Amino acid sequence: MKSAALGRVALVSGGSRGIGRAISLQLAAEGADTVFVNYLQNDVEAEKTRELVEQHDCQAHLVRANLAYPNQIGQLFDQIEQTVDHLDVFIHCAALTSMKPTLALRPNQWDLTMNASTRSFLLCVKRCVPLMREGAIVALSSLGGGRVIPNYGAMGIAKAALESTVRYLAAELAPKGIRVNAISGGLIDTESIRNFPDSETLIEETVKRTPAGRIGQPEDIADIAMFLISSESRWICGQTLVADGGLSLS
Ligand SMILES: NC(=O)c1ccc[n+]([C@@H]2O[C@H](COP(=O)([O-])OP(=O)(O)OC[C@H]3O[C@@H](n4cnc5c(N)ncnc54)[C@H](OP(=O)(O)O)[C@@H]3O)[C@@H](O)[C@H]2O)c1
Repeated sequence: MKSAALGRVALVSGGSRGIGRAISLQLAAEGADTVFVNYLQNDVEAEKTRELVEQHDCQAHLVRANLAYPNQIGQLFDQIEQTVDHLDVFIHCAALTSMKPTLALRPNQWDLTMNASTRSFLLCVKRCVPLMREGAIVALSSLGGGRVIPNYGAMGIAKAALESTVRYLAAELAPKGIRVNAISGGLIDTESIRNFPDSETLIEETVKRTPAGRIGQPEDIADIAMFLISSESRWICGQTLVADGGLSLS
């Protein structure tokens, strides 16, 4: 496969840790010119990501912004526009939730999850469009968007809405040469899965139920993101690719 990222300018929301970091690094490794790494609050991990990206001779710009808030999304894009004149790639990894039974969700927890994870995607894409001559946009979803995972109600509902948002935006943006797709991951080995109650049991059970015999690694998802921004996937539009080692087959 040709390098999907060569010479490109990319924004990765939630790009400083976990899956987002793996994607930021893969973009850099495949020759991206510039990667904007958005994150929420963890400056130390963000700095680590910057160093790792720069080791690939790629410019890294860290942008701290809480995407739950439209004004901070505005500031993120103002900073991007002061630095570059276009964007080629936007990969949306930022997400935040409260792990609890759906019936126990408080309105502010519902709002935070929807705003940080899903509304943020729409608002970022609105600002991406004028910056993209042609481009590729990928949103990170999860199996919980289509199935029930205990304590994952808020995020699962937000991911279902995210996948639907991807379909609508894909239809509206395809005529402009901007492709929008999503990746639905099974359990991936990042810090966020430690937020599940009894996460060790969840991991053990998931490994047992996964035909491929393990949980995913962030790099498994990063490779798929590279495919979705590459010309090899040019005819894929508005789809959610499931990447779970076969977990959802049974
Ligand atoms: N891990 C899994 O099993 C799994 C499976 C399927 C899909 N996904 C999806 O993949 C994406 C990444 O998950 P992950 O496990 O890699 O997460 P993670 O390790 O917890 O990293 C989350 C990243 O998002 C940033 N972030 C969180 N809330 C934000 C906000 N409101 N505004 C801006 N940035 C924010 C964090 O910044 P700080 O470091 O500053 O907090 C960090 O960079 C999420 O959309 C998640 O739903 C994960």
